[in-house]
Amino acid sequence: ATEETLVLVKPDGVARGLTGTILARIEAKGYALVDIRLVEPDRDLLAEHYAEHEGKPFYEPLLEFMLSGPSVAIRLAGNRVIEGFRSLAGTTDPTTAAPGTIRGDFGRDWGLKVQQNLVHGSDSPESAARELGIWFD
Ligand code: CMP
Repeated sequence: ATEETLVLVKPDGVARGLTGTILARIEAKGYALVDIRLVEPDRDLLAEHYAEHEGKPFYEPLLEFMLSGPSVAIRLAGNRVIEGFRSLAGTTDPTTAAPGTIRGDFGRDWGLKVQQNLVHGSDSPESAARELGIWFD
């Protein structure tokens, strides 16, 4: 059945001018853009979005990174779009993400405390519903 997911082009992707390239890959795969907006999140929004990572060593650097500039939030729809987008994105660590994926082709280790990995995609239907509520409603 059709489902929805939250995709973010994170600040590194926006700053590097990769938004169009990333959107082109999503559209070429055939998923439907339901809604899209440029967001400058505040700390409260990010604390909610990243609640599960609170207390981890990369939590503060992650929030600082996500506060460093706007992200593009996308409501994306299609059959199995949650796993489909995560496959397009590649694994979390951009150094070893497979070539052909967004992270594998455009990301790398910049020697920072947080992995700047260009995109986010919800990891389950429950996360998608929660995260879409945070970024869109
Ligand atoms: P994302 O999957 O969108 O959400 C959590 C983010 O934290 C992840 O992307 C990375 O940007 C970052 N992250 C996850 N694991 C690590 C790690 N081990 N070290 C540094 N950053 C991480």
